[in-house]
Amino acid sequence: MPCGPIKLFHLSDIHFGLEDQRAIDWVRDCIARERPDAVAITGDLTMRARHREFRAACEWITALDVPVTVEVGNHDIPYFNLYQRFFAPYQRFKKIEKLVETQLDLPDLAIVPLRTTTRAQYQRFPWSNGWVTERALDHCLEAIDAHPEGTRILVTAHHPLTERRERDGKLLTINGTSTMEALAGRKVMAILSGHIHDPFDLTADTAAGPLRMVGAGTLSRRIRSTPPSFNEITIDGDTLHVEARNLERVATPAMQIPEVPENALPPREPGEPISAVGTVPPEDPPVH
Ligand SMILES: [Fe+2]
Ligand SMILES: [Fe+2]
Repeated sequence: MPCGPIKLFHLSDIHFGLEDQRAIDWVRDCIARERPDAVAITGDLTMRARHREFRAACEWITALDVPVTVEVGNHDIPYFNLYQRFFAPYQRFKKIEKLVETQLDLPDLAIVPLRTTTRAQYQRFPWSNGWVTERALDHCLEAIDAHPEGTRILVTAHHPLTERRERDGKLLTINGTSTMEALAGRKVMAILSGHIHDPFDLTADTAAGPLRMVGAGTLSRRIRSTPPSFNEITIDGDTLHVEARNLERVATPAMQIPEVPENALPPREPGEPISAVGTVPPEDPPVH
């Protein structure tokens, strides 16, 4: 018997420590009231992976009474404690361990995690951008291949997979192009990501066919060019619809940016967006 539409809330970049209280209260109420089939949080739970930030994140997430999957973001790996960064980077997730990089199985739909965060990158510094290691990709593809044919697949990752910035070819996610090709070859419905702090809904052309890339905005005060938001994703048969919900009532097309930029950096003054809605500044301003 065919099942009805599936509703998924895609949240990202809450950055506890610099969270937008009004926005997260609103999202929590939306989840309690509307009860989506699942919530996918694509990383950057905290600002600096501090213990108190993880405590707040774990408390907020465990209170959501729906299935949740959580990705690890570049801000969630210990920043000040280098020993932990290298030898026990995920220890601070202990309280929500079961939710981290967990696969969610919904009717004829699986949400499969892909790790893009690394504790160090020998190719460059800083290490905030993505890197899909061979191991991470194999792990994800094996999980996809374990499903019966015809299962709809969504992949969740922190970093968008775009390998090079469109306007100048700057390296963003290492191995992004080959990863996108592998996912397109397996007819993945979409890859859901965060990190950018602005939402988008783009389709990449890969050698193996098109791949839908859906980014969620932030729920923090670290806004870039759009107000805090989350994506409501409706999957009905083979169609996937994205709405970028926000408290300012900005319409989804105006919320979604037209290309994948580099990192999101904070504005110059607290609360100040760094560009008009719908535009991406060529360079982020200096951080104070
Ligand atoms: Fe972030
Ligand atoms: Fe990030």
